[in-house]
Amino acid sequence: MTESASPAHRPGADPVSVWRGLAEGSVLLDGFHALKHAVRFGASVPVAVTVDRAAALALADELAPDVRETLDALLTEVSDKVYASLVPRPHPTAVAALAVRPSREAGLRALARTSRDAPVVVLDQPRNLGNAGAVIRLAAGFGAAGVVTTGTLDPWHPTVVRGGAGLHFATAVERLTVGELPPGPVFALDPEGEDIRGLKLPDDALLAFGSERSGLSAELRARADHLVALPMRPQVSSYNLATSVAMTLYHWSATGGAPATA
Ligand SMILES: C[S@@+](CC[C@H](N)C(=O)[O-])C[C@H]1O[C@@H](n2cnc3c(N)ncnc32)[C@H](O)[C@@H]1O
Repeated sequence: MTESASPAHRPGADPVSVWRGLAEGSVLLDGFHALKHAVRFGASVPVAVTVDRAAALALADELAPDVRETLDALLTEVSDKVYASLVPRPHPTAVAALAVRPSREAGLRALARTSRDAPVVVLDQPRNLGNAGAVIRLAAGFGAAGVVTTGTLDPWHPTVVRGGAGLHFATAVERLTVGELPPGPVFALDPEGEDIRGLKLPDDALLAFGSERSGLSAELRARADHLVALPMRPQVSSYNLATSVAMTLYHWSATGGAPATA
């Protein structure tokens, strides 16, 4: 939990000016839950605004007492008009904040660890920002070591962060080429592979998933040590990307993988 007071709370600091000065290059935390998760997992949050401080702190009392004090120090009340001018579209909780994006070096260091006790999820050339966000949320929930994307999608795109509910800060998230993937055996998910139900996925595995449109790339297939299939009736061609990641991480956790701690 970050305990430092935001610049917006230094005497004389205007949160809106702080926001406008930092917006480019920062991570937008859109809504109460994204802010709650980011703070809980150690994000540095220089500015946070809400149109109703009392309502936001009541939500904290109810859902996140562990970070209530930090949110109390961070949140500045602004008018509806000011809030609407800071975010692309209003969130039902009317809370928004900016977080410092972790350095690429820190992400690469976390991913390069050789003694991993949880897999890294690799999304090979994903296209859908919502899927990428949902996968980061899953990876955070299962305690995965990180999420790596290949291709052009930016895994820190605001829409991905929104889909990830602020949980980018609970795992390592980076874009890499196939040649730069961290060490570890690659288990690539493909309907033509070996049935996952007969396999134990090792803790240091890279679990790789193909793109929504065209599946695994030739480059990723060439790096794969195993092709793994999820059970599916013959007439069904494939599952959604994020649900495939969910089933695979669940299988890892249910067959001896480190349990996600409550
Ligand atoms: C929507 S699917 C890709 C469909 C794509 N049209 C294709 O040709 O493969 C996205 C990814 O989810 C994973 N996936 C989906 N269904 C799967 C299954 N039954 N077994 C293993 N992996 C699956 C694969 O990694 C796949 O590349």
